[in-house]
Formats: sequence, structure tokens, C-alpha cells
Amino acid sequence: MDHFLYRDGHLHAEDVPLADIAAEVGTPFYCYSTATLTRHFHLFDEALDGLDHLVCFAMKALSNVAVLKLLGDLGAGVDVVSGGEYARARAAGIPGDRIVFSGVGKTREEMTQALTGGIRQFNVESEPELLVLDEVATGLGLRAPITLRVNPDIDAGTHDKISTGRKEDKFGVPISRARDIYAQAASLPGIEVVGIDVHIGSQLTSLGPFEAAYGKIAELTEALRGDGHTIRRLDLGGGLGIPYARDNQAPPVPAEYGAMVRRTLGHLDCEIEIEPGRLISGNAGVLVSRVLYVKEGEDRTFLILDAAMNDLARPAMYGAHHDIVPLVEPAPGALHAPVDVVGPVCESGDTFARARDLPPLAPGDLVAFRSAGAYGAVMASEYNSRPLVPEVLVRDDQSSVIRARPTFDEMIKRDIVPSWL
Ligand code: LLP
Repeated sequence: MDHFLYRDGHLHAEDVPLADIAAEVGTPFYCYSTATLTRHFHLFDEALDGLDHLVCFAMKALSNVAVLKLLGDLGAGVDVVSGGEYARARAAGIPGDRIVFSGVGKTREEMTQALTGGIRQFNVESEPELLVLDEVATGLGLRAPITLRVNPDIDAGTHDKISTGRKEDKFGVPISRARDIYAQAASLPGIEVVGIDVHIGSQLTSLGPFEAAYGKIAELTEALRGDGHTIRRLDLGGGLGIPYARDNQAPPVPAEYGAMVRRTLGHLDCEIEIEPGRLISGNAGVLVSRVLYVKEGEDRTFLILDAAMNDLARPAMYGAHHDIVPLVEPAPGALHAPVDVVGPVCESGDTFARARDLPPLAPGDLVAFRSAGAYGAVMASEYNSRPLVPEVLVRDDQSSVIRARPTFDEMIKRDIVPSWL
């Protein structure tokens, strides 16, 4: 459920007509709903009710500081994967003891930044990383709390590019070698083992792969405890999918996921962390764009928008589907016809949808891409020298620009022409 609904024939974000925001900030722009973000955070928080737990928003999905502050104020932690994300989380007021640090390529600088700034734990992904972290922590006179991310060799049944738990994926250490690496970790003076981490992929639409992975984590927990390690925390990653198309069957909801977590891991008396990104912010955001032209091709019609693949990369990158709806509600029974929805960028990959059935649209009309709140703005680029689009946050009848559209000058003045040119 989200808070982008038609009222009196006009698509609103909560109580604000999206067309009013378009008039104020221009198009394209991203718009997020406070109520939807809040609701989705609470769904996860309540799903783990009764378990000692922390919901760490995977901020790679949406990293605007205003959104992080909103979630942080609700009690969320965050999962960060870079020094930049760590700095954003701290700027949003999220304390270090609610920040977990994931990723296969943490640098010494990032380790130092997190160790000195405060960190809940590092999710370590390899032996070489473990040794470097030990060195960095020892050098600072500190001990780094860690989990080891294990790779359970499970196919999450999702898009190839966002599957992370198969043995051919770059993530984690093979679960078969985990006991040896834990033994090594326990011998390092700069390392404090606190638990185990696993994340098998993103946009999972069934619980089966999670359950298989968590079953392996339960076994590993017992084995490691038998080896004398203190395993008190399990980080279960993110990955629960969202319905991208209104008419698709919806993936399992957080309550069902929570019940499965209890079933597979509840008996272990561990603190549970989860790292959802997409389910919290995906359907809490839309990308609003204007129709520039309707062009009749040889055998198809192109709807040319002012948004492009640089603003929303998912369709070009993963062939992803996003529902596209007009801001003015189509009349009941309005005739739909197939159109190719494209942007102005100079490559054919800049296609959002092929043969999409849409009601009649004319130049100047506004449309919204649904489910664009996760991996939308964060993956945008300035390709074709198109400035990053603004972000707007709505709460009830208020809306605020939470990132402004840069001017061409602001974009250009980051380039430096050497004096010798
Ligand atoms: N934890 C870790 C360690 C991750 O790598 C990810 C996502 C998450 C949590 C959050 O997963 P989520 O709950 O959002 O599924 N750009 C792609 C998605 C990449 C996901 C990368 N890792 C897309 O637009 O579909």
C-alpha cells in the first residue's frame, strides 16, 4: 500500500497534487511520501516484534539525508556500503551504534572513518579484508566488531545482476570455509566476533530461498557456538521484493517474512538485524515526467518524455518494469493503445517501456513512474549533461524540496580547465 492515489481525478502524494509540485519545481522530479516510508518501516519493525532486533535501512536504495533523518527518528539503523554513505548517515543524525558497514571492497580510510566515528559492526566479506581491518583497528588501539558474511550458495531466483548468494557471486566467504575463518578471526587482537551475516539477493518474490539460507545460518550458529565463539547477532540482509506492476501477484509481506525468521532462527536467542532497502522506499516514491512529443514511427508510436535513462536507470539496466500512470486520471473506459515510452538520451537503450498500453497522452501531459523510490534517484547520472533531478518529500499537505535541481552553471563549474589550456 502506498500514498499515491487519485483524488478528484488528480494523482496526489498524500494530500498534495503532484501537478502542483511539477508547477513549482519543474519536471522531471522524484517525490517521496513520508506516510509510506513510515508505514513500511513499521511493517518490518512489527514483523520482528518480540525478538531483539534492529531494522537497518539499506540506504543504497535511497540516500537523501532528509529521508535518512525521517527513518532514523523512527528508530531505524542503516546499512552503509561506502564512506560517503557513512557520512550521509551521520549527517542525518544516525548514531554509530545503529550503522552496519557492508561491501566487498572497504578501504582502510573507510574502516578508519567508521571505527573512529562509531560503528555497530562491519560485515566482513573476505579473509584479506579481515586482516586489513585487524591491522587498522589495532593501529587505532581499537577492536572492530564483526560478523562474517557467508555465501550459502543459494539461488535467490531473482534477476542475475542482483543475485548475491551463489558461489559464482563475488559476495561473502563460502559457508563451507566459515568455521576456519572464524577460528582465524578469533585469534586477531583487533577483531571482536559478534555474529554472522548473510544477504542472498534483491527483489526476491518468494520466501523459499530466504528460508533455505537461514536454515544454513541456524546450523552454522550452532557449529560456531560449539567451537567456542560468541554468536549473539544475526544480520539477515535485505531482499524482500515489491510488486512493480499493479496486476502482478504481490510478493510475501514483512509479517510473513518475520514469521519465517522466527521459525528458522527464533530458537537461537540472537539479536536479529535486517537490511531492507527496496521494500521500505520503493513504493514510497514516484518519478514525475512530462510528455514532450508523441511521434508516429513506421509501425509504432513513441511517447517521448523529458525523463531519461540517466534519471531512472532500472529499465535500461535490468529490463525492469515500472508502472507509468497519467497524473490526470483517465476517464473510465478510456481507450488504451500500445506506445513505446522513451527519453531524450541518444541511445536506443533509453527506453522505459515497449508497447505499453496507455490512455491517450499529448505533449504537456504529466505522467508518474511508480515504484521509483528505491534505486531511482541514487542511480541517476548526468549523462548527456542532464543535471540530476530534484527530490521532494511530502508529509500530509506539506511538500519540501529535499534536493534542488542544479543549474547548468553549478553543473559545469565542477569541471576545471587547467591553466595550460
Ligand atoms: N544488504 C545488502 C548487503 C545489499 O547488497 C542490498 C542490496 C540490500 C541489503 C538491500 O536489498 P533490498 O532490500 O533493497 O532488495 N540496483 C538494483 C538493486 C541492487 C541491490 C543491491 N544490494 C535494482 O535497481 O534493482
